[in-house]
Amino acid sequence: MVKPLVAETREELAAARAGIRDWPLALVPTMGALHEGHRSLIRRAREIADVVAVSIFVNPLQFGPGEDLDRYPRTLAADLRACADEGVDLVFAPKPGVMYPSEPEVRISSGRMGEIVEGIHRPGHFDGVLTVVTKLFNLVRPTHAVFGDKDAQQLAMIRRMVRDLDLPVAIVGCPTVREPDGLALSSRNRYLSEAERRTALSLSAALGAGAEAVAEGPEAVVRAAQAVLDTAAKADPPLSLDYLSLVDPATFTDVDALHAGPAVLVVAGRVGATHLIDNMPLSLPAAVTDAAGAARGAVFSTKDS
Ligand code: PAF
Repeated sequence: MVKPLVAETREELAAARAGIRDWPLALVPTMGALHEGHRSLIRRAREIADVVAVSIFVNPLQFGPGEDLDRYPRTLAADLRACADEGVDLVFAPKPGVMYPSEPEVRISSGRMGEIVEGIHRPGHFDGVLTVVTKLFNLVRPTHAVFGDKDAQQLAMIRRMVRDLDLPVAIVGCPTVREPDGLALSSRNRYLSEAERRTALSLSAALGAGAEAVAEGPEAVVRAAQAVLDTAAKADPPLSLDYLSLVDPATFTDVDALHAGPAVLVVAGRVGATHLIDNMPLSLPAAVTDAAGAARGAVFSTKDS
C-alpha cells in the first residue's frame, strides 16, 4: 500500500501538481468522512485516469445558517487510510483559511436551477458548491472529475456549469451505493439513531415503490412513492418530507403527465435533525391514454412550500 502525497497548502499542492507528468488526472471532490460510496468514485476515477486525486474539504460556503457545518464529521486520519487503500496518488486537504484566505466576494451563481427542488430548502447551497468545485478545478487542474449520482441535482448543475462556462473538465457520474436494505450511503447517516435509521429507509422504499409503478406513467409513480412517505410521516420518529418530485434529469424542472423517457424521482426529508436526500433515475414509457393527455401540463411533485 503506497501512501498518497498529502497537500494541505496551495504551495504543497502546486509542488505536488508540478511533479505529476502523467495524464489524464481524475479528481474526486469530497467533504471527507469517506465511505463505500466515495470509494466507488475513487475506483471509477482509477478506471479513467492514470493519476487519481481526492480533495477533502468541508466547504463552509455550502452550509446555511442552522445547518450541520460544525458537527459535520471530520475524520482525516481514517480518510487518508481509505485513500491509501484505494491507491489514491494525491490528497488535497486544505483548511478553510487556505481555501478562503478572505471571505469570497465573487462567487459562482447557480442561477434558477439553484433555486428549485433542493435549492428551495437550502438557499445559497448550490452557489457554495459550484464556487468550491470551480476553485478545486482551478487548483488541482484535473482532466476529469467524478461525482456521485446520489447528489443528482448537484451533478446536473456541475455539468451545466462546465458547459456554460467552458471549463476544460470532463464530468463523470457514478451510481449511488446503497446498504443491503436500500439506504443510500451518506456521511450524514452516522447521525441517525437506530429508530431514525428505520424511518430513513422510507426514502429508498418510496423510490422503489415509484419505480414499480413506472409503466403506469408519471402520476402513478409519484402517487406510489407518496403513499410510502405518508406512512413514514406517521412513524416514530416521523419523516418530515421536504419534497418528492419527478424531474427532468438535466434541468430539474417537473415533468408533465405525458413525459416519456428519462426522469429522476427525487426525494428529501428530515428525520430528527438529519437532512437526507435520495433519488432514482427512471425511464418513463410513452403515455398512451386519453386521460393522460387530458392531464398534460400538470406537474408531479409534492412540496411543502
Ligand atoms: O458532494 C460533496 O461532497 C460536496 O458537495 C462537494 C462536491 C465535495 C463540494 O463541496
